[in-house]
Amino acid sequence: MEVFTDKHLMREWSRRVRQAGETVALVPTMGALHEGHLRLVELASAEADRVVVSIYVNPTQFDRAEDLAKYPRTLHTDLKALEGTSCKAVFAPTEMYLPGSATWVTVEGLTDHLCGLTRPGHFRGVTTIVSKFLHVVEPDVAIFGNKDYQQRRVLEQMVRDQDFPIRVVAAPTVRERDGLAMSSRNARLPPEARQRAVAIPRALEAAKDSYDGGERRVGALLGPVRTALEAAGATIDYVEIADDATLAPLPDEARITTPAVLAIAAFFGGVRLIDNVALYG
Ligand code: PAF
Repeated sequence: MEVFTDKHLMREWSRRVRQAGETVALVPTMGALHEGHLRLVELASAEADRVVVSIYVNPTQFDRAEDLAKYPRTLHTDLKALEGTSCKAVFAPTEMYLPGSATWVTVEGLTDHLCGLTRPGHFRGVTTIVSKFLHVVEPDVAIFGNKDYQQRRVLEQMVRDQDFPIRVVAAPTVRERDGLAMSSRNARLPPEARQRAVAIPRALEAAKDSYDGGERRVGALLGPVRTALEAAGATIDYVEIADDATLAPLPDEARITTPAVLAIAAFFGGVRLIDNVALYG
C-alpha cells in the first residue's frame, strides 16, 4: 500500500494505473477509520481494480470550530487498519487549500433542507473538497455511505452537474450489534450517552414497521420518533420525513404518497449523530 501526501504524486499514480488499463475506486474519508469504512473499502474493491482511500479532516465543512478541534486524528492507526484490506493507495494530504483559495462548489436545492439548514456552510465544504479529490485522484468510481444520506445525494448531484466521468456507488449503512450506525463520532460518546443513543435506530425501526404496516400520515410516523428520542434524553436537531426527490420535509399534516426518507439528527452527550431510513413502496 502506497501513501501519498502530495497531490501531484497521487495523480501520477492514478494515471499510471488507468493507463495500464485498470480502474480506480476512491473512498473519501476524514480518517478515524472504523469497521464501516473498511466495508466501504471492501465494496470499492468489488467495483474497481484498485482502491484509493483519502484521509483528510476538511476544515471547510465544520460549522463549529469546537467540532473541528475535537475531530479525532488517528493517521497512524488508520494506516495500520488499511494495511489488512484491499486498499492500494492512501491519499493523506496535510493541506488541500492553497493560500488565497477563493473557489467553492455549491449544490443548490438539495442542500436547503435537513443538515443544510442546521449546519450552514457544511455542504459547500463537502462538495468543494470532494470535487478537489476527484480532480486529484481521477477515479472511475467514488463510494459514499448511506448513513450520510443527504451528503451522498448532494455529491451525486454534483458529479452529474459538473460532468465528472465518475460512477457514484451508495454503500449501505453499517451498524453496531445494537443497531447504532457506525460513525467516527461514536468514539466521542460518553458511555451512558452511547447506551441511550440506541434510541435512534430503535425509533427508526419502529417507524419503518409502522410504515410497512400501512401508516402514511407524517405526523403519526414522526410523533413516536420524537417522543422516543426525548425520552432517551436526546437534544433533537431535526426529525423529518423528507420527499426523496427534493429532500424537502413533508408537513406533519401530509401523507406520504411518493418515496420518502425519515432522517434524524440528534445530540447525545453533546455529540451530534445522524441516521435515516428509506420509506419506499
Ligand atoms: O463523509 C465524510 O467523511 C466527509 O464528509 C467526506 C466525504 C470525506 C468529505 O470530507
